[in-house]
Amino acid sequence: MAATPGNPGIAAFAPCYPVSTLAPQNLIRVARETSPDLIIIGPEGPLVEGCVDALQAEGFRVFGPSKQAARLEASKIYSKAFMLRHGIPTAKAFACTKVTEAIEKLSEFPGKIVIKADGLAAGKGVVIARDTAEANHTISSMMAGELVGAAGTSILLEEFLEGEEVSFIVICDGQDYICLPPTQDHKAIFDGDRGPNTGGMGTYSDDGILTKEDRSTIEETIVKPTLAGLASEGTMFRGFLFIGLMMTPAGPKVLEYNVRLGDPETQSILLRVEGGFGSAIAAAANGNLNHAVIPLKPGASACVVLAAAGYPGKPRMKDKISGIPEAETLGAKVFHAGTKEEDGHLLTAGGRVLGVSAAGDSLANALNLAYAAVAKVNFEGMQFRKDIGQKGLKRYTES
Ligand code: AMP
Ligand code: GLY
Repeated sequence: MAATPGNPGIAAFAPCYPVSTLAPQNLIRVARETSPDLIIIGPEGPLVEGCVDALQAEGFRVFGPSKQAARLEASKIYSKAFMLRHGIPTAKAFACTKVTEAIEKLSEFPGKIVIKADGLAAGKGVVIARDTAEANHTISSMMAGELVGAAGTSILLEEFLEGEEVSFIVICDGQDYICLPPTQDHKAIFDGDRGPNTGGMGTYSDDGILTKEDRSTIEETIVKPTLAGLASEGTMFRGFLFIGLMMTPAGPKVLEYNVRLGDPETQSILLRVEGGFGSAIAAAANGNLNHAVIPLKPGASACVVLAAAGYPGKPRMKDKISGIPEAETLGAKVFHAGTKEEDGHLLTAGGRVLGVSAAGDSLANALNLAYAAVAKVNFEGMQFRKDIGQKGLKRYTES
């Protein structure tokens, strides 16, 4: 096994090749050196750059969508048009390439307005404006490239949807798919869903997130039409398809597609998986998913993200991290994100630093263990949400 670019967490399992993963040539070089049976491309950057296509052209077996299929995440304008073409339920929206055009359209949105950068923005390209004044200001600065650079020079203006969010991820082999357990992310930086959006501050997963009917509606009205729509346009999707959903009173609607696993969704998903994950991916990479199963453990899981001071703005870096072994002794699993090792010390090296995760026989127990483990970890300026999973717990007290 090998990883690129890697971090001190994965380094415990695999040698790391710290190259820029956005350049296909770098990945080809590492692949030639390590001769892997299977390459899994994780993040959106290399997928959108066409690294899957480049590695396949060199004869490597790769799991991940092609550059063409990755457009579902690369451009929110493209993916909205795709959903509309195929009748996939989603919020009403307008694509705008000029500030004047966007400002004119505002009158069509009563109440809150969702403003989305067209391009990749690491979870920070969506602003929910409370009124026209805030929307005007956001549109002008986003389209001037001040908020998320060139990713924001074209935007989508979107109707605000009310409801609970669910992250629904499926493994696709180009034809068939299998569903991973649904999770709920917490996008805003502060408790109570306040403050700016982040890449995700924590997740939980349990069987209460979706009813059987909801799940079947999602598969019938969203998953199948998405894969069929892609196929009808000559695009095969082989990889993880992440569907960000809002469960509205009118049924599930798509907020976004990602063409990869989610962070921090995956931490919660993996803690519920009993086995079969690797073999399902290998089967999907061969276009042969039909007999694969991924059994789940009963119970629940949760992940609490520990972020650096300043995040989701410019994060403070190079603070010493302590307490991970103590957290893991309790039975939690601490996944690394923005960490690095220097002179024998583990240091912060990014906005989201660690994902402290735990499983339990109930959601309450999974959350208790995750938060007990969080209490053991420390670095200067550490911020985390204290209300991960509260909506899930409320569901039990209300029913
Ligand atoms: P996206 O990257 O499109 O998933 O948007 C990031 C986050 O913004 C979502 O996870 C939601 O919390 C929020 N969001 C996006 N679109 C909408 C919408 N139409 N209505 C309400 N919230 C939204
Ligand atoms: N947590 C949301 C994402 O991975 O895009």
